[in-house]
Amino acid sequence: MTNVPLLSVEGLTMRYGTRTGCADVSFDLHDGEVLAVVGESGSGKTTLLRLLAQELAPDAGRVRYRMRDGGVRDLATLDEAAQRLLARTEWGYIRQDATDGLRMSVSAGGNAGERLMAIGMRHYGQIRGAASDWLRRVEIDPARIDETPQSFSGGMRQRLQIARNLITEPRLVLMDEPTSGLDVSVQARLLDLVRGLVTELGLAIVIVTHDLAVARLLSHRMMVMRRGCVIETGLTDRVLDDPEAPYTQLLVSSVLAA
Ligand SMILES: Nc1ncnc2c1ncn2[C@@H]1O[C@H](COP(=O)(O)OP(=O)(O)OP(=O)(O)O)[C@@H](O)[C@H]1O
Ligand SMILES: [Mg+2]
Repeated sequence: MTNVPLLSVEGLTMRYGTRTGCADVSFDLHDGEVLAVVGESGSGKTTLLRLLAQELAPDAGRVRYRMRDGGVRDLATLDEAAQRLLARTEWGYIRQDATDGLRMSVSAGGNAGERLMAIGMRHYGQIRGAASDWLRRVEIDPARIDETPQSFSGGMRQRLQIARNLITEPRLVLMDEPTSGLDVSVQARLLDLVRGLVTELGLAIVIVTHDLAVARLLSHRMMVMRRGCVIETGLTDRVLDDPEAPYTQLLVSSVLAA
């Protein structure tokens, strides 16, 4: 373990024309740390994740990442091949819309196994075995391995995304509302699974959620966003039990009242 953050975000800012996507967002994330990002619809949560994943270019600010060799790199300076390699091996990205995160015309097994091929695994039986194993871990019947996600429910698609991303044991996973639309019981088991992986693999996670119970269960720290800005940040228990910003107070009390 090291004190150098895995991810270091400084002053990330991006506009869509005159509309603010993200305004001056900064934070550090360490190995094995889970950061929950909460905030109302349109507050910039997905924009932030896409900026982290280098899918959007910021107007200002930067994202630095500690590579496996210990060197810290500004992600914007990596060439495309290096970025692609990171995205396929060290990072996972669970999309808000599962159809953006899956290959809809490829089998569940193909979706799950694709990243193993990307890191050089060639043995078909091994890839299929690992894929089947992961389907089971996310509670998709392995008998459905040859079906495409088109025939899956929303919740199954979301779980397939998780299998597809975690199969290479990444170091950092970005999750955009991974549990929305899931049954409470499935959601609880999935959160348990993710929690286990955080401990087992030292996985670091940035998770966007509107569900404060998910934030409470999973995250160490929380960041509250509104209109692209960070309104409040702190240890999860502190933010939820003793929110400082009036907006956070409203958010917490409205959930409690619901
Ligand atoms: N492709 C786009 N073009 C123009 N404006 C956009 C685009 N994507 C997002 N925005 C705007 O940027 C702001 C932040 O949007 P973003 O999708 O990041 O919010 P969010 O917090 O993820 O919301 P939700 O909880 O609904 O997913 C909003 O005002 C939104 O309208
Ligand atoms: Mg969003």
